Amino acid sequence: MNSKSLVSIDDISRDEILDLIGRARYFEENPNLKVLDGRVVATLFFEPSTRTRLSFETAVNRLGGRVIGFSDASTSSSAKGETLKDTIKMVSNYVDLIVMRHHLEGAARYASEVTDVPVINAGDGANQHPSQTMLDLYSISKTQGRLNDLTITMVGDLKYGRTVHSLIMAMRYFNPTFNFVACNELRMPEEYKEICRANGIKYTESTDFSPEIINSSDILYMTRVQRERFTDIMEYEKVKNIYTLRNSMLADAKDNLKVLHPLPRITEIDQDVDDNPKAYYFEQARNGLFARQAIICRALGIDLQKN
Ligand code: CP
Repeated sequence: MNSKSLVSIDDISRDEILDLIGRARYFEENPNLKVLDGRVVATLFFEPSTRTRLSFETAVNRLGGRVIGFSDASTSSSAKGETLKDTIKMVSNYVDLIVMRHHLEGAARYASEVTDVPVINAGDGANQHPSQTMLDLYSISKTQGRLNDLTITMVGDLKYGRTVHSLIMAMRYFNPTFNFVACNELRMPEEYKEICRANGIKYTESTDFSPEIINSSDILYMTRVQRERFTDIMEYEKVKNIYTLRNSMLADAKDNLKVLHPLPRITEIDQDVDDNPKAYYFEQARNGLFARQAIICRALGIDLQKN
């Protein structure tokens, strides 16, 4: 595996996380640095995406590189039965970096093991979404002025939500307190609670999205119940609308509270929240551009000091 791959947020240290946040800040101030001249990046999306794919592609374009790839795997030779290994080996002949989303957990790790080209995981099943985590960390750092000692409430699909799984792993360096709010069917998996316990991180679990929880939070991280992860559609129908954040529920929230969501949202944030200054999810998605510029440059070994 190329050491510049980013498959899991666990692949990078606390110092590298802070360095990437610093680079994201730099790109927000200088979004059009032409540091990728002559570089080609592949975006291989075996699962649908709006923000992740388009922000990665915008990042490459703004940095002066070129993009090839597909947003619909049915137009690629995987529809004829070509294996993931062969697809990755072929694409590696053409590009300097591969950004890949796949529905199977572990697919990005596997891809990174069959090529010398760096691979960035743009989401693998319910497992990891490390570039989302970097933009989440950048958003938290920008809005709170720090990453340490924050109370972060995660709401919704905590079982299948790869964004919350990655965020827990990254936040373990920064002494958070977590509130996990989910119905019994979508509780935070034991392995992530074990990570909390092993790192001395305080957490609560609740099925009740209570005013006390909202009003004690610095970050409210809402998530979508993901229909595509359920094998039984009746199970999805039972839980799909279980939590909805409404504007009135934020009346007594802390001044610094920000509402984050990786998006897309369905019903879990009412549109009446959108104009509340505490709603930060659209800016959060914008931050993805700068975070991904930082990740791409790290993967390609580009030294910003020399540019
Ligand atoms: N947050 C996120 O991954 O959005 P997309 O599915 O639109 O890429």
